[in-house]
Amino acid sequence: NYQQMNLLILGNKHGLKSIASPGHGILAIDESNATCGKRLASIGLDNTEVNRQAYRQLLLTTPGLGEYISGAILFEETLYQSTTDGKKFVDCLRDENIVPGIKVDKGLVPLPGSNNESWCQGLDGLASRSAEYYKQGARFAKWRTVVSIPCGPSALAVKEAAWGLARYAGISQDNGLMPIVEPEILLDGDHPIERTLEVAERVWAEVFYYLAENNVMFEGILLKPSMVTPGAEHKEKASPDTIAKYTLTMLKRRVPPAVPGIMFLSGGQSEMEATLNLNAMNQSANPWHVSFSYARALQNSVLKTWQGSPENVEAAQKALLARAKANSLAQLGSYSA
Ligand code: 13P
Repeated sequence: NYQQMNLLILGNKHGLKSIASPGHGILAIDESNATCGKRLASIGLDNTEVNRQAYRQLLLTTPGLGEYISGAILFEETLYQSTTDGKKFVDCLRDENIVPGIKVDKGLVPLPGSNNESWCQGLDGLASRSAEYYKQGARFAKWRTVVSIPCGPSALAVKEAAWGLARYAGISQDNGLMPIVEPEILLDGDHPIERTLEVAERVWAEVFYYLAENNVMFEGILLKPSMVTPGAEHKEKASPDTIAKYTLTMLKRRVPPAVPGIMFLSGGQSEMEATLNLNAMNQSANPWHVSFSYARALQNSVLKTWQGSPENVEAAQKALLARAKANSLAQLGSYSA
């Protein structure tokens, strides 16, 4: 299995392009049904399976998407869905050389004994679910837990986040899925960038401690970090150069070069901010492939353009390609606004 994972990330297993390849990143469309409902509500649509399928079909059948996107993270419902013509979504992805991935965590719940913080469920039954997802065509997995700066974070919350990620990563590798490790440090708060740096260093130190303790193979994981920025309510915004400097400093202090790729989340940044920040990150040579795994920063314009109308599908797909291309250029460090 470990050998298989190496091939998937670094090589060309299953005839699929590797995820961490130049000019490529991940399209995250693994919103839970509840979160997808919020996105649909923003354009006046009901949260029905028909509407979720229509939206995901629009995204996953975008012609030429594979030029910029090498992996797509799906929610469980989507992994088993097909187009209205009966083609499985996983086959649509394969035809574009995009590796199908699956969100395997079961979401956040309150963490008793913490400072109003949460923990991420989903370890029970994970091995058998992972094996089923593999059979359905998934080749990588994602587990998102969160850490809140305004709530502390407490030592308990950080430990639980790190331990859960490490257990998940080991189980995923054991079942042939390459794990994306995502401790999202939420943007909320009015703290300065230095405070985010401090918390991120603490969180990643613990994550790697427990990854090692669980014998996770570092060559067979991808990371999905938050960029190191000031809190969303901080009085001053940071420039892309500053964000890149802090984020790369943090990663170089904490992430071994054996890890092949860093795929950032957008975390509520605007589409343009997410692209400019990624571009700034790629102005220097980095020990890892530094790229994107955006949900909102790839989908906001798409949703606005689509509005749920079949006649807008083509324009909405063009909007997706435009964002994907911009981020592809940013991965190469050659984006200009
Ligand atoms: P955003 O890019 O919208 O933060 O979402 C990425 C993601 O998949 C969070 O888990």
